[in-house]
Amino acid sequence: MSETIVIIGAGHAGGQAATTLRQKGFEGRIIMIGDEPYVPYERPPLSKALLAGDIEVERTYLKKPNWYEDKDVELRTNTRATSVDPAAKSVTLDDGAVLSYDKLLLATGTRVRTLDLPGADLDNIFYLRAIDDTFAIKDRLTPSSRLVIVGGGYIGLEVAAVAVKMGCTVTVVEGLDRVMSRVVCPEVSAFYNDVHTQAGVDIKTGMGVSAFEGNGKVEKVVCADGNAFDADIVVIGVGVVPNVELAEECGLVVDNGIVVDEFAATSDPSIWAAGDCTNHPNSLLGRRLRLESVQNAVDQAKTAVGSMLGEPKEYAEVPWFWSDQYDLKLQIVGLSEPGDEVVVRGDPADRKFSIIYLRDGVFTAINTINNVKDFMASKKIIAAGRKIDPALLADAETPLKEL
Ligand code: NAI
Repeated sequence: MSETIVIIGAGHAGGQAATTLRQKGFEGRIIMIGDEPYVPYERPPLSKALLAGDIEVERTYLKKPNWYEDKDVELRTNTRATSVDPAAKSVTLDDGAVLSYDKLLLATGTRVRTLDLPGADLDNIFYLRAIDDTFAIKDRLTPSSRLVIVGGGYIGLEVAAVAVKMGCTVTVVEGLDRVMSRVVCPEVSAFYNDVHTQAGVDIKTGMGVSAFEGNGKVEKVVCADGNAFDADIVVIGVGVVPNVELAEECGLVVDNGIVVDEFAATSDPSIWAAGDCTNHPNSLLGRRLRLESVQNAVDQAKTAVGSMLGEPKEYAEVPWFWSDQYDLKLQIVGLSEPGDEVVVRGDPADRKFSIIYLRDGVFTAINTINNVKDFMASKKIIAAGRKIDPALLADAETPLKEL
């Protein structure tokens, strides 16, 4: 009898899983549940090209809408799964339907962390996670807009770059003492702070927002230290939280993410999980972690499918990320930590350089700015866990791949 695989979550991990299932010749029933009105799409363009109006929404789709019908993937959009019953092997949906599964994939992703502050429900305050968020922000941004962005992370800085180019007056309010501190060292933060400042963005660090004020619509962003910034529009990008409630309520082990093993298996033998929502081990890094990245969604979804089809293959990849701001492509391989030794390769003034992170002498991570060659060469070096002389690394004339 043919099997039914249900995928909860029609994001990057869910979409990749459906694709890989068909590519690997799975002929059973695939049902994918997504609470948005769209086919699975890529999120990175939402804060970049889609917001800037450089691409049409269709360009973000992982597969053309007719692919799902052609491949007999039953995609249920605008639908939420409300509970999972592992004993009965069934999923209940918000339209009342109950679906039976043989195998279940949880690809529930993350949702934005919200700021529960006075005035947070005023109009023109937005978060950016989904296509409709991008459209809502884009609809209201005009060259005369005063945009205040809360959070100087990926979302905040990418939106700032697009908006200042449109002619908006842009202020970024970051709670910590430097931008992008979650992912890069002080040297890279300082570089991006300068780039944004030169472009006309007013970056305020070390300021905690305490309230939003306005009459119906937001007019002011107020900080705890008394500073206040006039705003027509506010975009908040203060991180995300994993969607683990379904897993938790059905009794799976959850700990900052749905706990899975290196084969993407959860604590239930018929349920797997992949993407931003998982807490997974990585033998290359020697620890468990939860990752928010396209690379993780794609690679872990492939691992989960392999496991579901009886072809287990350990998930152990070096994480990588990217961010586009202005003419700068920031690419990150590996995970840096405070205390890592930092080696600068090239001159930031050239807007092309790399920062290498060494831990106990081992090349563990890199940030490359407009330096694709270093990015490409680093994946292998980091996977190999090699010690390399910092003086050699600092010589930008010597290609990394020769080291
Ligand atoms: P983030 O973690 O990158 O940045 C959040 C920033 O907000 C941090 O700098 C943090 O210090 C700051 N913050 C937190 N609370 C604050 C407060 N109360 N007031 C002021 N600042 C505060 O998260 P972000 O930018 O929201 O991105 C969300 C997710 O989207 C992440 O998973 C990210 O990886 C992903 N993303 C990735 C992109 C990429 O790879 N290029 C682009 C856009 C988003």
